[in-house]
Amino acid sequence: MRLLSTLALGAFVLPVAAQASDPHSYAQPQDVVISHIDLKLAVDFPHKQLGGTATLTLDWKNPDAHDLVLDTENLAIASIEAVDTKGHAHALHYALAEPVKAMGRKLTIDAPEHPREIRIAYKTSPDASGLQWLAAAQTADKHLPFLFSQSEATHARSWIPLQDSPAIRFTYTAHVTAPNDVRVVMSAPNVPKHPLDGSFDFEQTHPIPSYLMAIAAGDLAVRETGPRSAVYAEPSVLAKAAHEFEDTEQMIATTEKLYGPYRWGRYDILVLPPSFPYGGMENPNMTFATPTVLVGDKSLVSLVAHELAHSWSGNLVTNASWRDTWLNEGFTTYVQGRITEALYGQSQATEETLLAVRNLEKTIGKMPENAQRLAPQPRTVDADDELSDVAYDKGSWFLRTLEAKFGRKDFDAWLEGYFNHFQWHSITTEQMLAYLKPSLIDKYPGRMSWEEVQAWVYGTGIPKDAPIPDSPRFDAIDRERNEFLAGTLAAGKLDAKGWNTQEWMYFLDRLPDTPPLAKMQELDAAWHLTGTPNAEIGMRWYVHAIAAGDKAAWPAAAEHATRIGRLYLTMPIYKAFVATPEGFAYAEQVYAKAKDGYHPLTRMAVEKLFARTRAAQASAAADKG
Ligand code: BES
Ligand code: ZN
Repeated sequence: MRLLSTLALGAFVLPVAAQASDPHSYAQPQDVVISHIDLKLAVDFPHKQLGGTATLTLDWKNPDAHDLVLDTENLAIASIEAVDTKGHAHALHYALAEPVKAMGRKLTIDAPEHPREIRIAYKTSPDASGLQWLAAAQTADKHLPFLFSQSEATHARSWIPLQDSPAIRFTYTAHVTAPNDVRVVMSAPNVPKHPLDGSFDFEQTHPIPSYLMAIAAGDLAVRETGPRSAVYAEPSVLAKAAHEFEDTEQMIATTEKLYGPYRWGRYDILVLPPSFPYGGMENPNMTFATPTVLVGDKSLVSLVAHELAHSWSGNLVTNASWRDTWLNEGFTTYVQGRITEALYGQSQATEETLLAVRNLEKTIGKMPENAQRLAPQPRTVDADDELSDVAYDKGSWFLRTLEAKFGRKDFDAWLEGYFNHFQWHSITTEQMLAYLKPSLIDKYPGRMSWEEVQAWVYGTGIPKDAPIPDSPRFDAIDRERNEFLAGTLAAGKLDAKGWNTQEWMYFLDRLPDTPPLAKMQELDAAWHLTGTPNAEIGMRWYVHAIAAGDKAAWPAAAEHATRIGRLYLTMPIYKAFVATPEGFAYAEQVYAKAKDGYHPLTRMAVEKLFARTRAAQASAAADKG
């Protein structure tokens, strides 16, 4: 369970008639596609609103098309006009449908004359699902307010009216105004020395899908880490971030050596406040990152390897719909491992792979059959629900299988060829397979059958001969954990002084789901896990301590869950709490206090969990009565 699987509580299956090529968007790309967006936006912190205009350049495909259909969510639309080549504008009729859960409001614009440009004047809502507005007091330095976006999977529509489908790509320009002293950045080349004069211009010259639209604004300082990379963060976080991410240029150069040139120019990293709901987001030219990876020893920087890898797998070659998301995340997780191996060694890469493999082995069998497939069959409406460990960890496992069967040399050449072949395009699983067959499977006969490939992509579970790497260090930890649990090795005698972050994660991951309380107390007394500054270790510790009934860990677990809004690090703690009525009551209090600092997605996830818990309690009570 990595990302929003915590949100995957209900799947709303669309009626068949409504299923276009992308069931998560109302766009009708067979009629018309957006080829460019020009934004003129003002960042209004007091009202928590972005406001201004989006001018869409259109490429009409169907001579009989009548309308331009856009995705919107929670937008206040002031006017919609067609703009002719001389810049003259005339109003267009439009209809905004009632909101549909996880889809937003369908915007249908009457445009039988097929104007080349349509200009929409609008404002966002203070609770736009794709934006978080933080007051100055909620930031690290408490100096200026902060804004950041998170558009993937389908939240771009909450701050820009557009065709919100990854199959559609456009370039963009933007003029953004903000209060003086605030720095604005976007998913386009940023200028480290830009003056803080309240006016910023951006140009993304490469065609990108809507989920890569991104913006942030706040008290941002900049430090360059290489000829084409810099770190952006609040001033008090900057030095730590620049140190943690000092290998960025080496990472870019390593990936280029493997898979060909980095196409985007600059690669910068923005460190966000801890409420950022994800670990990282691969916004073009500027990865957005959680501060929870700043642990001082670079042990979690494979997150940068991952987001950087998306510059090839995802941003250059893009999944055509969220059902194909393993083409983004599985390929990227594979490339992440290769970068980690090249820079930090085989042992580090293997440990990271094994953590994922052991976790997937444990969980995949409990998932609904369709969720076990890389390319699932029926589609669900909430795109966030399509994300799970399967896309990441089964996807990358499939690619490691190909690597093992065809050899590193030929597989590397194949993958570079794949990126070149599909560059700047959005593709389906079936397009990928149609390329794979002649260029790898049939080219080197006898290595892997087509049936084996299909079992990986369309089958459930994990194929039997899936390769598992060896880690003597992890084997030793398995032995120590067993002895500790059996009572033949005291907690203080664990050889844990030299354990790195991944080794602690592995030790904790494979404790029993409900460990004996005395064992957890002994572990904490010896290793002081409660209050750890490393949130990956902390999350795993608190989940087991809560399950063991260790109430002494509750306040620190609550502090962790309050400070950190990253779903993957915070939802497991809420889940552990709601397992008992007393824990649930405590979690409700924690949430009431934490809520103001949470991102809309984190709020939604916690509220869904609470609603489900209440429903389960009610039905248990009804069963009794
Ligand atoms: N693109 C994802 C984040 C994402 C996926 C956001 C789907 C919204 C919907 C990003 O590249 C990612 O995978 N982030 C991981 C990083 C980790 C695998 C190193 C995360 O956030 O935990
Ligand atoms: Zn990713």
